[in-house]
Amino acid sequence: MAQINPSILSADFARLADEAEAVRGSDWLHVDVMDNHFVPNLTLGVPVVESLARATDIPLDLHLMIEDPDRWAPQYVEAGAGSVTFHVEAAAAPVRLAREIRAKGARASMALKPGTPIEPYEDLLPELDMVLIMTVEPGFGGQAFLDIMLPKIRRTRELIAKHDLELWLQVDGGVAASTIERCSEAGADVFVAGSAVYGAEDPAEAVRNLRGLAEKAAADAWWACGH
Ligand code: DX5
Ligand code: ZN
Repeated sequence: MAQINPSILSADFARLADEAEAVRGSDWLHVDVMDNHFVPNLTLGVPVVESLARATDIPLDLHLMIEDPDRWAPQYVEAGAGSVTFHVEAAAAPVRLAREIRAKGARASMALKPGTPIEPYEDLLPELDMVLIMTVEPGFGGQAFLDIMLPKIRRTRELIAKHDLELWLQVDGGVAASTIERCSEAGADVFVAGSAVYGAEDPAEAVRNLRGLAEKAAADAWWACGH
């Protein structure tokens, strides 16, 4: 079952509660936290996440593009996040951090920038609930999808199968009607979409359309056979 997570980075930040309502039926709301150090952009922090968690029933999928996630990630669980993704490039102790996120009651997830390979982290996978393969350089919405990430998505799905893990595989960046099928065929099952959802006339309809495309592509995919 494909999950679609609209990214509020492309929404109107002055109307976040309404913008969450506009994508009713989505599986998660993707919240990009940027600190202007790990990435050259700045968005929002713990207080906004606390307010948003109170304002919507849709669970929050936090994507922390920040330095020192070891210090901050647990605070986002306390703020009401259902899933917290940290970048492995920024984490000092990823296993300890994943365990702490889980112990506090959220799903733990690890993100990889386009230049970061998955193979060195094979042994960490059982500690995680999701892996995020970035399909653009993190920092901004509306960038072009990087096709060259498709083999990494495929290899990550192979590792998940090899270890027989219940691990979700998320893609983020340039995911749209024109690219989602390729991601799904390669092995992704959770899709972040910012401009493709909030740039559409009817965001909820865009979510349904993306979900339909992803599920159709997964139906015949090598990795989903028998699921
Ligand atoms: C980029 C963010 C994405 C962003 C995606 O660094 O992590 O979540 O919102 O935007 P689109 O879907 O427009 O590429
Ligand atoms: Zn993101």
